[in-house]
Amino acid sequence: MKLRFSPASPFVRKVTVAALETGLDARLERVPASVAPTKPNPDIQKDNPLAKVPALVLDNGETLYDSPVICEYLDSLHGGAKMFPAAGAARWTALRRQALADGILDAAVLTRYESIRPDQHKWKAWMDGQMAKVQGALTAFEAEAGALGATVDIGTITLGCALGYLDFRFADLGWRKSCPKLATWYERFAARPSMQATVPQG
Ligand code: BEZ
Repeated sequence: MKLRFSPASPFVRKVTVAALETGLDARLERVPASVAPTKPNPDIQKDNPLAKVPALVLDNGETLYDSPVICEYLDSLHGGAKMFPAAGAARWTALRRQALADGILDAAVLTRYESIRPDQHKWKAWMDGQMAKVQGALTAFEAEAGALGATVDIGTITLGCALGYLDFRFADLGWRKSCPKLATWYERFAARPSMQATVPQG
């Protein structure tokens, strides 16, 4: 399997953490892809019509995207502890947390792209609106931080990668101040070897 990736993408990090946690990482051949929003790249578009990473090219030539689909596919390939609970309340909780943490990432990445536009083209009210979504999701996670415990599934993996991305690109946000219980949870989760091996650089 070939994983099309770009090193700073938090969605790629999520797939890599899931692969490490499930013992599948060595089966991923990594092929870099350039994904600047203002520079269309036919090379990645041939694997993902949306020109986004991560994209997973299977040995039969089919390509899977985006990160929730890739992670669930990887989870189907191993016999160990599942990242996607099979059924019942645990499954819906994990999927909801994944959606909420992916939502943090969607809003944060859009804000990041806006922030690197030339000053005269930046739309501050729009960026504030995106960051209000991030804050709303953080507040919701703070309210359930006590229930996160030591769970390692697609919900907590996505949450860990979302908080890591905020630290990487939004170090001034200071999310720990308003979310102390979440900060305590994250400190422990971020120490996992899968998270330590994938800390974004740059
Ligand atoms: C970033 O540099 O923040 C980034 C790179 C790729 C995808 C998303 C974000």
